[in-house]
Amino acid sequence: MKNNTIINTDALVALRQLPNESIDCVVTDCPYLIAHRSTIEPTLGGILQGGGGNQRKEAVRSGKMFEHNDIKFSEWLPEVYRVLKKGTHCYIMINSRNIKELQQEAEKAGFVFQNLLVWNKSNSGGTPNKYYMQKCEFILLLSKRPARNINDMGTPNLLSVPNIIGKGEGHHPTEKPIELLKIMIRNSTNVGDIVLDPFAGSGSTLVAAKQLERQYIGYEIDEKYYKLALHNLQNTPAQTTLFDL
Ligand SMILES: C[S@@+](CC[C@H](N)C(=O)[O-])C[C@H]1O[C@@H](n2cnc3c(N)ncnc32)[C@H](O)[C@@H]1O
Repeated sequence: MKNNTIINTDALVALRQLPNESIDCVVTDCPYLIAHRSTIEPTLGGILQGGGGNQRKEAVRSGKMFEHNDIKFSEWLPEVYRVLKKGTHCYIMINSRNIKELQQEAEKAGFVFQNLLVWNKSNSGGTPNKYYMQKCEFILLLSKRPARNINDMGTPNLLSVPNIIGKGEGHHPTEKPIELLKIMIRNSTNVGDIVLDPFAGSGSTLVAAKQLERQYIGYEIDEKYYKLALHNLQNTPAQTTLFDL
């Protein structure tokens, strides 16, 4: 297992090659199917704020946010559970429509549900919506027994971090702010620990880990996002000699 790396691969294939109990924390923003037509706007309004254009139209047509998002929760969650060490945390970003299935599958895999965090996209304008405008996204905090506290127990479960506005060239369409990811990594790992993001996108989780002197492993199936993640990591100065990328 090579640390401090992003690999252009299918997460399921790569996860199966990781040893049992080798990872200190998982932070991920997983792919999921979005709702079709009449129900799609609440979801897409949140995800693609500040842009989207053709991608929005294609998503409405196909029900898929990305070219690659057919992987099922029930396929990858047991692998993520297996590779995490005992007494660790797993954070999964999700929309309101998929929380129920995600939590059910996570519990089936062995995880304990600990809390639901809300990411308040404090700067987002939002798209008017008949069932309320989307101003937040959700993050499931799961643990692998035995339970352990987060490092800063004074952290509220409402995380107010500005969204990235106008995601265009040089950004992933659902890129998450580094500061948001740092809150979770700081709270659930220590310097030198290994953070895994199986669905890395632009590599924001990995960049946050690197900036906090944690080790990181990421997978991204889409070559263009893999290249973007690699670029972002190479432009993140190493804080310690732990990093050889
Ligand atoms: C929601 S995005 C992650 C965005 C990321 N958090 C960021 O800040 O840039 C999910 C990513 O998972 C990737 N993906 C989908 N299926 C995958 C698979 N089987 N293996 C690896 N990556 C996959 C998609 O290409 C997409 O880039």
